[in-house]
Amino acid sequence: MELYPITPICLINKHWIEGCTFVTSLNMMKKIIITLDGFSSCGKSTLAKQLARELNYVFIDSGAMYRAITLYFMRNHINWNNEEEVQKALTDINLDFDYNDSTGSSDMLLNDENVEALIRDMLVSEHVSEVAANQYVREFGVAQQQKLGTRKAIVMDGRDIGTTVFPNAELKIFVTADPAVRVERRFKEMFEKNPNITIEEVKDNLEMRDYLDSNREFSPLRKADDAIVLDNSNLTREEQLNIALGWAKQKMEE
Ligand code: DC
Repeated sequence: MELYPITPICLINKHWIEGCTFVTSLNMMKKIIITLDGFSSCGKSTLAKQLARELNYVFIDSGAMYRAITLYFMRNHINWNNEEEVQKALTDINLDFDYNDSTGSSDMLLNDENVEALIRDMLVSEHVSEVAANQYVREFGVAQQQKLGTRKAIVMDGRDIGTTVFPNAELKIFVTADPAVRVERRFKEMFEKNPNITIEEVKDNLEMRDYLDSNREFSPLRKADDAIVLDNSNLTREEQLNIALGWAKQKMEE
């Protein structure tokens, strides 16, 4: 029988490299769940997106799901303090993600409508923490998020991902940053879309959401006991990515 030489190939940044001599390529490593929790605007989504890209994992922005539910409630005049109205409305909501090549991440679909831009509006930001505190909204969100994680290989960011959604995740990161740095970052982001916005409005909104997110009754924002803290106040995007990638690869090799 004739034996053919086998050329090892491996996946680096989504490109198959022939003749690669690495013993363990990323796709041969254990698939894990990575959770990133923390306060609003501390850079979780940026890091989650970067990690997902490097590891060839799926990035899921759980906050976008609560934002889409909030948008639906606002448009349809649903009173989120009324249990029956909320329960009925949730049966009419279908959430999905659609990969967007130009941004390199997924857009939020609400009943098949792309609402990615609309859910980032200040009006939605003003109400999302109240909506996300509702017990039925949380049960709905958590169930959908858990379904998305059944095949592993995901990076999900939010507030309760390491505590409630995936308490057994292999790698849990709790991201923090100095409050002034967070306000500055959010202001820059919002100012590009709305030049009338003031830094005070952004600061008030962040403080209000921090308070509501950490003091609500159902799955409040908490650092999981086994989460690693990553303070990125003085780190560049590249530096924080390298730190997190190191932790991820360690877990993928265990
Ligand atoms: O990450 P973000 O700022 O887009 O999240 C919007 C809001 O959604 C946030 O104020 C709190 C809520 N949220 C939540 O309660 N649980 C999550 N897992 C993610 C977000």
